[in-house]
Amino acid sequence: MTTAILSALQEEQSSLLQHLQRPRRTMHAGRVFWQGDWHGRPVVLALSGIGKVAAATTATALVERFGVARIVFTGVAGGVGDGVQVGDVVVAHDYVQHDMDASPLFPRWELPGYARTRLRCDTALTAMLLEAASAYVQSATGQFDSKLVAGQPRAHRGLIASGDRFVCAAQEVQNLRTALTSAGHEVLAVEMEGAAVAQVCHDYGLPFAAMRTISDRADDSAHVDFPAFVNTVATRYAEHIIQGFLQK
Ligand code: ADE
Repeated sequence: MTTAILSALQEEQSSLLQHLQRPRRTMHAGRVFWQGDWHGRPVVLALSGIGKVAAATTATALVERFGVARIVFTGVAGGVGDGVQVGDVVVAHDYVQHDMDASPLFPRWELPGYARTRLRCDTALTAMLLEAASAYVQSATGQFDSKLVAGQPRAHRGLIASGDRFVCAAQEVQNLRTALTSAGHEVLAVEMEGAAVAQVCHDYGLPFAAMRTISDRADDSAHVDFPAFVNTVATRYAEHIIQGFLQK
């Protein structure tokens, strides 16, 4: 049973690649796929690309060409929920596409043809990922520059929203949260790919789980924090949490 591990960013993937035994590189659909073993288990590592369409193409290739049995996503996200801080991890319970709006033909955020707004992640995989994330953030306390991770990081589980926008304005976050909350969707984090991969996994009937390290608060300081955080913190989180997950 092959596990696909998707990352949004090259930096995150590099830290995962070091663990791959017998790595084999394949180019397909303009993307690089790395097959190998990790803890004796067959895995394929790939970059999702940025945005929903790129991520859907990568996920489809993983299913059609590499026959993966499950997909796990590791990446960064903007924290928008109360108490979701930079350095925390959010493990997705389910996903919504915050830029989906086919109203008045369909209710706002509903996926046309799917009769649903939210896409659920796999319960068992999500529980394993949350366990690995909780264990790592506890052990990581105080390990990072306090300018990047202040205080005790936490692992959360909840709704993540994806859309083709890097959200970097407090007003936009407030509008997004107010609108989604009024429809009963309490969002913890925003990113640009997860919901697309969740939709592909739904179509093929594959289990999917995702973890996102919070790199910014999706506000006016989001662009300043981002590169430093990805290079020093997110790469370590991805490596350790996926390692913990694969050992389960
Ligand atoms: N990924 C990391 N931070 C993000 C943000 N603020 N908006 C969208 N995607 C992100």
